[in-house]
Amino acid sequence: MEKSKFVIEGGNPLRGEVRVGGAKNSVLKLMAASLLTPEECLIHNAPRITDVEIMVEVLRQLGVEVTWEGSSLMINPGEFPSREAPYQLVRRMRASIIVLGPLVARWGEASVAIPGGCNIGSRKIDMHLKGLAELGAEISTEHGYVHARAPRLKGTHIILDFPSVGATENLVMAAMGAEGTTVIENAAREPEIQDLAAYLVSMGAEIGGAGSPVIEINGPCELHGTEHSVIGDRIEAGTLAVAAAVSGGEVSILGIDPGHLGLPLEKLREVGVEVEEGEDRLLVRAGEEYASVDLATLPFPGFPTDLQPQMMVLQSVARGTSVITENVFESRFMFVDELNRMGCDISIEGHHAIVRGVGALSGAEVCAPDLRAGAALVLAGLVAEGETHLLDVYHVDRGYEHLETKLSGLGAAITRVGAVEEKVLPQV
Ligand code: UD1
Repeated sequence: MEKSKFVIEGGNPLRGEVRVGGAKNSVLKLMAASLLTPEECLIHNAPRITDVEIMVEVLRQLGVEVTWEGSSLMINPGEFPSREAPYQLVRRMRASIIVLGPLVARWGEASVAIPGGCNIGSRKIDMHLKGLAELGAEISTEHGYVHARAPRLKGTHIILDFPSVGATENLVMAAMGAEGTTVIENAAREPEIQDLAAYLVSMGAEIGGAGSPVIEINGPCELHGTEHSVIGDRIEAGTLAVAAAVSGGEVSILGIDPGHLGLPLEKLREVGVEVEEGEDRLLVRAGEEYASVDLATLPFPGFPTDLQPQMMVLQSVARGTSVITENVFESRFMFVDELNRMGCDISIEGHHAIVRGVGALSGAEVCAPDLRAGAALVLAGLVAEGETHLLDVYHVDRGYEHLETKLSGLGAAITRVGAVEEKVLPQV
């Protein structure tokens, strides 16, 4: 079978209307949270992307019944028998570690394979484990697995070293099984955390403060089944906004809360892109020319690291030089060499990228090293002169539902050659 790739002919301004799917980084956690009840949970607006399919596998491996109905996921946990997330699934998606908290809360025990490194750096889970231990779980690591045992979890005061998204979510879910009050300080504030809290509240949980740095949970929570619609994917929306801007077009992006994109929209405006915000939509209109603007990634409400590669493409076609600082992941500049092969002029100094605007890019054969870098290379292909062949698009399929269909619906000349691949490498 020929490997899947995108062939992009640059130079077409994007125009029209496009709808984003449900947020990848939310739906994965809602699926894990469903393990906290024996009752049926219905999750609407679930994107059909590889990462969600892997989480479906993780749940089925635990013995949970999961079925798709259109874009809704029906999850029926019942008294599922397994307590283990095996390496063959966790290596395909690091986010599988998120079942640890719910398993411990529900059954008092869990074995989850330790995720390895990934293409954007080594990603530790020390804060997840420290917090679980503080809640009273006994943690051991053996043969590549984390084993957690907790006949009883007890509410406590946890202070995270860093507002880690995954650690906050794992600990919020573990606290569902803890007796008394759990307070998590320096918690992550991402919109996906708020969506998880809303989901848990709809299941009967008592949670306050989600979206602020201090989250409080009163447990133990007897949770019941629920029905919930996933928030729109702010990273997909941001990617499409940059696509409209670099291609010189005008695009309405539907299904997104603009409040989830505060700083990225601010940065787009500073660069010279026109952005209008509606209740659940954005209108993005390209500017005549773009200015260079510095940015630094930080936990929400800071600039999202998941939009850093896309902004680098926009800065490459701006006038002047900008500095992009990556503070969240250690190796998130791996795609820069690929962009330079397309005519960009970017140099790396530690965790800073110095981006010199070059005006025009030129199409080339390039390789997607990870999900968001893959999306950035698609954007570069849209603005480049000539043809770009993007290889390893299975990375892009992990987080974008038919990105090529959405872009070609807006007028881009992009086609997929070869079938969607089964193979998924260990990743973000
Ligand atoms: C989530 C998102 C990812 C996003 C990231 C930051 C999902 C599935 N993925 O990843 O798309 O880029 O948030 O917004 O939701 N760290 C530790 N120890 C820990 C936990 C984290 O050192 O125990 C470090 C990581 O190595 C990384 C930083 O903290 O450098 C941020 O990680 P975290 O916020 O946990 O990101 P994820 O939840 O993995």
